[in-house]
Amino acid sequence: MNRSIDVASEADPLTALRAATASRHAALDAGLPIGAPDASLHDYVAHLVLLRTWLVPLHAWLAGFADGPQFDHAGRVARIDADLADAGYVSPATSDSAAWPAEASPAYRLGVYYVIEGSQLGGAVLYERLRDRLAPHRLRYLKGDDAGPGPRWRGFMQALRAGVRTPAEIADAAAGACAAFDRILALRAGPRNGGA
Ligand code: HEM
Repeated sequence: MNRSIDVASEADPLTALRAATASRHAALDAGLPIGAPDASLHDYVAHLVLLRTWLVPLHAWLAGFADGPQFDHAGRVARIDADLADAGYVSPATSDSAAWPAEASPAYRLGVYYVIEGSQLGGAVLYERLRDRLAPHRLRYLKGDDAGPGPRWRGFMQALRAGVRTPAEIADAAAGACAAFDRILALRAGPRNGGA
């Protein structure tokens, strides 16, 4: 496993991040009820609450840095809130107290952004799978931007390739991506495992 990461990292930071996080994405994907073919609106609401609880503190932490990359997630959170309201739910107060590091390199933060931005790619796949089943709910969060996730993902790829070049930066980015996945995995598992 380490060997494949080393080889990949020389070629491309995206390949390295995929290799570093593939098992975590698989664990998340396999364990989320929203991924099941018969997912219900209740499963979607639970997914929104999980994503919101993960995303809001992460975004607040990322926005606190004066240097490095910045990607805005306000639209994403607004779509989560609109979807929750449509389903008759009030958005939860965010009580995730996980301590994200006060010092973190731009490469580490690009690794965290990789997970946040990438989650929208899976969302687009889920949208196509669930749109008819859960209609008339609009599934705004899964649908994402009208243009689809492609343009935003390409913009992120440019930032990733500009900001993650050296082996040390790739290692930092992989650490950030793994930490972001580990946080949502812990939140999914519940309070005894580090959830809010
Ligand atoms: C059941 C829920 C999920 C499913 C079925 C799913 C599925 C997928 C699929 C099919 C892709 C590839 C999309 C494409 O290439 O166009 C993808 C990409 C990705 N997903 Fe998920 N996903 C889910 C949840 C999540 C969550 C909650 C996160 C993060 C918190 C996440 C993180 C990512 C990342 C980082 C990528 C980019 C991978 C890459 O191209 O390097 N996914 N997902």
